[in-house]
Amino acid sequence: MALLKVNSLKKYFPVKKGFMTAPALLKAVDGIDLSLDEDRVFALVGESGCGKSTVARLIVRLLPPTSGEVLFQGKNVFELSGDNLKAFRKSVQIIFQDPFSSLNPRKSILDTIAEPLKIHRIVEKIRIKDKVVELLNKVGLGSDILNRYPHEFSGGQRQRICIARSLAVSPKVIVADEPLSALDVSIQAQILNLLQELKREYRISFFFISHALKVVHYFSDSIGVMYLGKIVEHAKTEDLFREPFHPYTEILLSSAPTIIVQSDKDVRSRNLKLRTDMGEVPSPIDIPPGCPFHPRCPKKFEPCDNIIPELKETDGRLVSCHLF
Ligand SMILES: Nc1ncnc2c1ncn2[C@@H]1O[C@H](COP(=O)(O)OP(=O)(O)OP(=O)(O)O)[C@@H](O)[C@H]1O
Ligand code: SF4
Ligand SMILES: [Mg+2]
Repeated sequence: MALLKVNSLKKYFPVKKGFMTAPALLKAVDGIDLSLDEDRVFALVGESGCGKSTVARLIVRLLPPTSGEVLFQGKNVFELSGDNLKAFRKSVQIIFQDPFSSLNPRKSILDTIAEPLKIHRIVEKIRIKDKVVELLNKVGLGSDILNRYPHEFSGGQRQRICIARSLAVSPKVIVADEPLSALDVSIQAQILNLLQELKREYRISFFFISHALKVVHYFSDSIGVMYLGKIVEHAKTEDLFREPFHPYTEILLSSAPTIIVQSDKDVRSRNLKLRTDMGEVPSPIDIPPGCPFHPRCPKKFEPCDNIIPELKETDGRLVSCHLF
């Protein structure tokens, strides 16, 4: 059984277009299915605004869905309450892109990391400080920072503190929403290595969102490519990088900025953006009919502008394109 499963998940936001008109629906997530197995990394990629963070927030129940379900160990997380909800919150942690706004500036590092230990009664009161030091050591920080405050640290150090805080509850899954994008290039590789080490040591599964295809190639086992709220290709990482099937995936991979990599420890990330001649992504308020990618697709043919392609299995992967 998959550890985490997402079924037909939708999130539509009502948005006001004008004063007198009824709100339009922005289809941020438009019916996606995916699953994450134990000790695995599933990566979600796609251009800005395609709905990646919305999926992340739905999975950890920071947002209610319009419809669909997220199953964690077989239970629908939107139906959890009381102790079951508390257990879910402990098992599934989220880390965000911006480690600056994820930490309370008025809490010392000791209090920041002690908080989840207290809420979930992980260790006896008397052992809390030792446990915090142990967690800091795990993420490469020392006990000298216990009484310091978030503003005294760099982005990379803050991200380490956020990671230590999520490790405090021994999560089974970490949802990481672009955890490297806000960091300096040299620091990105260090944090990526840290995540890799923690994954090995604790067998944590990751739901990993990233703009950086090189990072995704290195870190993930399988990938979902998102376009306008839908998954258009879902494949094993090696298969996808060896031969992308969906025309959008193909263009994404070929448009990735030239990545300067000296070794796997030096990974640069920039925003994913299609080549300039591909035009802009259509608005999620006004999704094109037929295949949503058809206005930009160099391979479009007869049925593409009026028949929506289904996500179908082809050669061990899922693709939504009339060519397959
Ligand atoms: N609370 C909200 N109300 C209205 N629209 C929203 C809300 N949150 C997100 N959106 C819209 O939903 C769409 C998907 O946003 P989301 O943040 O999930 O994209 P993303 O793929 O994470 O983008 P990025 O790569 O820039 O982080 C966007 O058009 C965004 O403007
Ligand atoms: S269905 Fe048609 S428009 Fe859509 S990706 Fe495939 S070929 Fe391109
Ligand atoms: Mg986002």
